[in-house]
Amino acid sequence: MRRVRRPARSLALATSLLAGTLAPSAGATHLAPGALAEAAHRVGFHVGAAIDHDLDAARREIAAREFTSATLENSLKWGPLSPAPGVYDFSRADAVIDWAEPSGLRVRGHTLFWDRLNGTPGWLADEVAAAPDPAAHLRQRMETHAQTVVGRYAGRLSQWDVVNEPLAALRGDLDPLNLFVQTLGESYLDIAFRAAHAADPDAELFLNETLVELLPAKFEGLIALVERMLARGVPIHGVGLQGHFLLAPPDPFALRSQLERIAALGLRVELTEVDIPISLFASAPDPLAAQAQAYGDLFEACVSVRACTGITTWGVDDGHTWLDSFFLTQQNAPNRPLLFDASGQPKPAYDAAVAALALRIIDVDVDVAPGDPGYRINPSSRGVVAVAILGADGFDVFDIVPATLGFGPAGAPLAHAHGPHYEDVNEDGRTDLLAHYRTQQTGLSAGDPDACVSGRTVDGLAFAGCDRGSVVERSTASP
Ligand code: G3I
Repeated sequence: MRRVRRPARSLALATSLLAGTLAPSAGATHLAPGALAEAAHRVGFHVGAAIDHDLDAARREIAAREFTSATLENSLKWGPLSPAPGVYDFSRADAVIDWAEPSGLRVRGHTLFWDRLNGTPGWLADEVAAAPDPAAHLRQRMETHAQTVVGRYAGRLSQWDVVNEPLAALRGDLDPLNLFVQTLGESYLDIAFRAAHAADPDAELFLNETLVELLPAKFEGLIALVERMLARGVPIHGVGLQGHFLLAPPDPFALRSQLERIAALGLRVELTEVDIPISLFASAPDPLAAQAQAYGDLFEACVSVRACTGITTWGVDDGHTWLDSFFLTQQNAPNRPLLFDASGQPKPAYDAAVAALALRIIDVDVDVAPGDPGYRINPSSRGVVAVAILGADGFDVFDIVPATLGFGPAGAPLAHAHGPHYEDVNEDGRTDLLAHYRTQQTGLSAGDPDACVSGRTVDGLAFAGCDRGSVVERSTASP
């Protein structure tokens, strides 16, 4: 693999870039057009936008140039698709897909079963209510719908949001107001996913949910639901976290922890509908820079987790966002929540997203043991762990995120929620310090002598080590 060594950066710039805090001053980006898609391709990652049949020519040009993925915002929902029982109008969905595919965009289907707003046609509830056997009737309608819609695009759509928002708005239990829940209980999810899988066995099937990033109890409910589905053998391949950060910017550590928990289930995870309104940063000296940091944090959290394969923003640019007409956010219009401004120009958030995609996450296991005279880590070490990423031509010193190194008897509960942790990964009887160190270096591979870290804790105690093949290497091929 060609080694690309970036020129050594000043510590301040490197640190801020690595910490996702680099926020270019407001104004035009210095990056070349298409930098976002190119950065995503380079690390086998998807960056997408919600689009639809009414996307004008200027936005189509941006979408095809800057993104690698497209989600249909409305035209594949049951309501817009089927105005009457058994009647389907695919003209708008076909127009979008027939453009997106030759434009080189991965296409995400959104969404087969969603009982909110126009996600479900009004005639369905009437039919179910009048049916002698509502459950049997609804099941049959669901299976026909999945076969009709997913089957139509079999082999062309990579992913489907099969079920959207099954949980109660602000809780972790199934939504009692949901027609599918009322009629079929939790089994409606099994019916939905099995029918979609039968219609296109190659499509990755996602369960998509909202607000779980901000509501821990709702996230726990989502995890429990997915675990039950997996235990029943339901063909689910991924979870979508919508990422509508309406109340607060993303917490990178909490988000990364959620992504890792979904990954631990053996599933893919994507951030599927991201918007971060500028109103969240009204008190910041430079709101655009603060929004850029939030996007940098978001991209860095996802890039850090191998199973997190994509981020889709809910719109191409600030000129078209549902937030400007949503009852909770329309009073803040223009919400300006996306990567491009209303005139289609990249914002500082665009630069931050590209920078985050350039990060290399190296898992390094460093042979240390509390009390080891060579690499003793003081059990009470606290604070920022400064590390040196050693390289043939000098080294870059980066401060990584503040890490609380809590060591104690092997197996003791770790004293920190994020940052470095320890375990005897190579089973040599010595405790290894596992940490995620960020570097701007690219082209590193497992065992590369550059992929070494050494440094001192704030207590001045030294440690050193090199990755042992545990490099989180993102393939350069697209996923
Ligand atoms: O197409 C009709 C048009 O013919 C009619 O004249 C007009 C006025 O009634 O309505 C148009 O349909 C609207 C549609 O957007 C297309 O613009 C619907 O009323 C309107 O409810 C719909 O809003 C969409 C909403 O989902 C409900 O489907 C938003 O654009 C879309 O951004 C939003 O996206 C959802 C995701 O699908 C799921 N996650 C939450 C997210 C935000 O609500």
